[in-house]
Formats: sequence, C-alpha cells, structure tokens
Amino acid sequence: MQHPIIIALDYQSLDDVKAFLSPFKEEKVFVKVGMELFYKEGPTIVHYLKEEGHRIFLDLKLHDIPNTVKQAMKSLASLQVDLVNVHAAGGKQMMEAALEGLEAGTKRGSRPSLIAVTQLTSTNEKILHEELLINQSLSSTVQSYAKLTEVAGLDGVVCSVHEVPMLKKVCKDTFLTVTPGIRLVEDSKDDQARIATPDEAKKAGASMIVVGRSITKSSNPLEKYKKMKDLWEGITI
Ligand code: C5P
Repeated sequence: MQHPIIIALDYQSLDDVKAFLSPFKEEKVFVKVGMELFYKEGPTIVHYLKEEGHRIFLDLKLHDIPNTVKQAMKSLASLQVDLVNVHAAGGKQMMEAALEGLEAGTKRGSRPSLIAVTQLTSTNEKILHEELLINQSLSSTVQSYAKLTEVAGLDGVVCSVHEVPMLKKVCKDTFLTVTPGIRLVEDSKDDQARIATPDEAKKAGASMIVVGRSITKSSNPLEKYKKMKDLWEGITI
C-alpha cells in the first residue's frame, strides 16, 4: 500500500460525510470510518464511500473471543474495505483468528490489510499499572504487543509517530505503522498529547498518517489536505 494520508471521518451521519466530501469529487482519498459513524449508518456508509471511489480504513478495533472475531472479520471482509483493525490485547490466537476470518470472507481481490492497536493513546503509565495491573512500562508494552502482532501474521499497528523508530528496530521492514496525532505547526493540538507534523511522521518512518480535525475543522478542507499531502510526500512548500 502506497503511503496514504487517511482522513478520519469523525462525523455522525452520512449527510455530514457527504457535505465534507463534496469538494473532494476529483480527489480520491483514503478515509477512516470509526465506530461513531459505522454504528449509526452501518454498511451504507461503506457502500457510499466505495461508490465515490474512496479507499476505506474501517476502524472498529475488534476485541472478543477468537471465534467471534473470526466471524465478525468474515462479515467485514465482504464490505471490501482496504484496512481493518483489532486490539492486540485480545492475544495472538484472537489476531490469528481475525486474519483467518478476513481471508475466508474475501471472495475476490486481496484481503483488507489488518493492523492492531497496541495501547490506546488514552492509556497512560498510571492506568497501565494501577487499573490494568501491567507492571511493564508503556513503551515496552507497546513494543511487545507490536511483536506479538507481527508473530500473529498481521500487517502492522496503529501507534504514535514517536513510537515508530523503536518499532522499526524490532519489527520487519514491511510492518506497517499507522500514526494518528498529526497536526501542522499552526494547528490546535485539541486533546492530542503528543503530536507530529506530516514531515516529521515521514522522517520517523511512518507508513500512513491519520488526520482528523486538522483537515475536517479547517475552513478549506481540500486545500488543507493538499498542503498536508505535499508535506507528507516530501514536497517543500
Ligand atoms: O482529529 P484527530 O486528527 O486528532 O483525529 C485522529 C483520529 O485518529 C481520531 O479518529 C482518533 O479516534 C484516532 N486515533 C487516535 N489515536 C489513536 C488511535 C486512533 O487519535 N491511538
């Protein structure tokens, strides 16, 4: 998969998505559909985006017993999206089952890529130790979960730009690192604690960046998207 910018469609309805994407008629993009939108609109949203020619990351972060995840992934594969994910905390067997489900549900073409969430960015060291009762540091947990994801045969992980160099050292070259928390220098950080610019993400070795509010809340989303794309693709502006 060529290094795309993924636009997070953090909207509540198909109408909102249509309004946002109206300037993108000529520009086919890679979008992320999360729980908020998918639970409201269901597969209709995926069918609409595909008809418009966009690629889709269906960000539903599955986490259940292996058999349930396998069957759920079989259903998701039939939607013919490009990228899906699970929680690595579900364990190796669950991740392998997710992969089997995707393969079983893919009738033509290649299966969607499958990545895992290591630790949510909302989890800090305190939560890790005091609530989840994990004694390791956050960064060594992220590293171990990423290795487990790789051993289970998945294609990569969602992680912070700041974790990419560490993961590049321990995982194979082709292992995908998909990084949210992207902003331009002039943007608001919103609730993201550790942010990076598209060019910093590129330099760190990220495979794909996920950008939400920096584009969706912009007064000119298409222009902002193009500006971020130029930075991401290494064009000096
Ligand atoms: O608006 P913003 O660019 O911060 O949005 C980032 C997107 O990436 C949101 O959809 C958010 O849920 C998602 N995300 C994240 N951090 C993670 C995983 C996903 O910000 N660790």
